[in-house]
Amino acid sequence: MPTTLAPSASVYTQLALRFYDFVVLTVSNYWAWRCPTGSVLLPFYQQHIGDSAHLEIGAGTGYYPAASCARLAKGVKLVTLLDLNPNTLAYARARLANAGFRGDIEAVQHDVFDVLPETMRARYDSVALVYLFHCLPGTFPKKATDVFRNVVPALAEGGIVYGATILGWSAQHNWLGTRLMNLYNGKGIFGNAQDTVEGLRAALDETFEECEVRVVGVVALFTARRPKAT
Ligand SMILES: C[S@@+](CC[C@H](N)C(=O)[O-])C[C@H]1O[C@@H](n2cnc3c(N)ncnc32)[C@H](O)[C@@H]1O
Repeated sequence: MPTTLAPSASVYTQLALRFYDFVVLTVSNYWAWRCPTGSVLLPFYQQHIGDSAHLEIGAGTGYYPAASCARLAKGVKLVTLLDLNPNTLAYARARLANAGFRGDIEAVQHDVFDVLPETMRARYDSVALVYLFHCLPGTFPKKATDVFRNVVPALAEGGIVYGATILGWSAQHNWLGTRLMNLYNGKGIFGNAQDTVEGLRAALDETFEECEVRVVGVVALFTARRPKAT
C-alpha cells in the first residue's frame, strides 16, 4: 500500500477490518452514535438501493451490500466498490461474492476527491456514501460539495445519492462518543469536528433539486435526487 494513503483510509488494515464490524457496526453505532445498524442504518441503506447498478463509495468491510444480497438479487446486475484503500476493496469484494451476489462486482481504487473515471458516467441508479464524510478532512459544505461534484456524473437518469455521516461537536455526543470523537479526530481517522447538519444540508441544496436529511442520535442520514444543472 502506498505510504501516502490518507489516514481516513490507511487505518483500514487487514487486521483492523476483522474488528471493524464489531467495533463500529455493533458497539459504536448503538452506544456511541445512537444510530443502530440493524434497526436504522441497514433498512435505510436497503430502501434506497437502485434497480440495476449500484455504486458503493467507501466500501469498508462491505457489510451493507453483503447484508443486502436478497435486495440486490431483485435485479441489480452490477455493484461497483470504490475506495482509496485496496484492502477494503479486496475484503468487501470477497464478502459480497461469498454472501451470494451473482452479478458483476467491480473494484475501483480511487480518491473520492478526484474526478471519477469516464467509464463510470451515467451508469448507476444508486450511489451510497455511508460513513464516508465524517472520515474526510475539511469542513461542510465544501468537502461534501467537492465529493458530490465528482459523484453526480456517475448517476443514471432518475438515480439517487444517499448515505449517512456522524456529525461533529455541534451534535449531542455522549460520554463514549466524546472519547471516540477526540481519539479519531486526533489521529485523522475522522475529520468531522466542525461538521454540522446545516453544512450538510447546504451542500445538498447547492447540488441537488431534491434532498432530505434526518438525524438519528448524532448521525445525519441523507438522500438526494435530480442534480442541478451546472
Ligand atoms: C468508516 S469506513 C465506512 C465503511 C462502510 N461504508 C460502512 O459504513 O461500514 C470509511 C471508508 O471510506 C474509505 N475512504 C476514506 N477516505 C477516502 C477517500 N478519500 N476516497 C475514497 N475512499 C475513502 C475508507 O478506506 C473506508 O473504507
